[in-house]
Amino acid sequence: MTFRCPPDFLWGAATSAYQIEGSLDVDGRGESVWDVFARRPGAIEGGGDGSLASDSYRRWADDVELIASLSLNAYRFSVGWSRIMPDGRGRVEPRGLDHYERLVDALLACGVTPVLTLNHWDMPQALMADGGWIARSCVDAFAEFTTAVAGRLADRVEWWITQNEPWIIALLGYQLGLHAPGVRDLGASVTAGHHVLLAHGAGADVLRQHPGTRVGAALSLFPCDPATPSDEDAAAAVGSDGYVNRWYLDPLAGRGYPTDMREHYERALGRELSEIRDGDEDAIAGRSDFLGVNYYTRRVMAAAPPGPFPWRVVGPSGDVARTDEGWEIAPDSFRDLLLRLHRDYPFPLVVTENGGVFGDAPLHDGRVRDVRRQAFLRAHMRAMGEAMAAGADVRGYLHWSLLDNFEWSLGYRPRFGLVHVDYPTGRRTVKDSGRLYARIVAAGGLDGIEEDA
Ligand code: FCB
Repeated sequence: MTFRCPPDFLWGAATSAYQIEGSLDVDGRGESVWDVFARRPGAIEGGGDGSLASDSYRRWADDVELIASLSLNAYRFSVGWSRIMPDGRGRVEPRGLDHYERLVDALLACGVTPVLTLNHWDMPQALMADGGWIARSCVDAFAEFTTAVAGRLADRVEWWITQNEPWIIALLGYQLGLHAPGVRDLGASVTAGHHVLLAHGAGADVLRQHPGTRVGAALSLFPCDPATPSDEDAAAAVGSDGYVNRWYLDPLAGRGYPTDMREHYERALGRELSEIRDGDEDAIAGRSDFLGVNYYTRRVMAAAPPGPFPWRVVGPSGDVARTDEGWEIAPDSFRDLLLRLHRDYPFPLVVTENGGVFGDAPLHDGRVRDVRRQAFLRAHMRAMGEAMAAGADVRGYLHWSLLDNFEWSLGYRPRFGLVHVDYPTGRRTVKDSGRLYARIVAAGGLDGIEEDA
């Protein structure tokens, strides 16, 4: 099936500050939790860090040219939190704001709509003195950051994403310790996740003082399917869905935290969730003009022996298509997710991330023939088109990522870019997938994009 999107559809690509910028010690930037975490022995595959990344802090003008040359009309980037608030609270660093102002103005001059993310995980290290997201005071710190960025840019930036992937922050940052700040404590992760959502509410309250802004959070959403038709596996899928998806969707939608999951956490932790105070759910609700959907793959679930988590990921059975990172390529689940969100939740949707790891590098002729990323793109475009044809209110699609970049604890090995980056030189090469995407964007969908091009 082919499809064509409405003319004001956001067609773009996404990045985040720590993953692409490098230049960690310029313009008064303070340390972020990722600077510190990356120094832990063994924390990052290959031992890298974000000090060079895709060198975009220096090459931002080249990036804007690339975006324009691909005829994208939107670009999602994040503002390095510790560039703006080097001490976490109080002092605002104007040179940091100047940088993002230049970027935004250059995008606008090319007709590219900026989609600005505030917290894409690089919290100022100074806030760890209080415990990072475990401390409720971080909500105020985030509101200060929002105030500073909005004060400079809200007259020009319409689309704002307060928080990127609260579940991943809670899970990898505070439960498993695989991301900064490297905490391993289930109770702390519940507290941290709640504070991230509260900060979404506080940030939205700041942004709503600026007319014309639209605010949303970007959630990592994973459809959860049972491995077998058994009742036990069906219950495991429902539990996993509560843990990953509903715990964040429901409060944003004004329903409060889901009761089944609240009971689950109280059982697992042996305590009440007293960090969720009276009035908190109201402070999270009703503050999303859209929902950011980050979609990569699905989770196939089976029952586990009773324990803190009575479900486990078993993965799909049989031979399924996978990215080079081993993630199942599941475009039908993308379509179904968009339809479910449309059916069950009140938000317009923006796909704020979708993509895959395919390791293709330039060949002798300099071209990157990443055929599998092209197939991935087509399949996900088709799936989105089907969801939209069936009524899903999707307002944009931002591919992850514009550029190959620093993939957190996996370092530089996984390549997600539509554009290849040669890290030693910083040279950018548009991959064949980038060219295909440019044609899709120009056509406003798959309409007229023949199969073998
Ligand atoms: C998401 C993150 C993004 C990137 C992709 C691959 O979870 O938001 O920064 O790492 O995964």
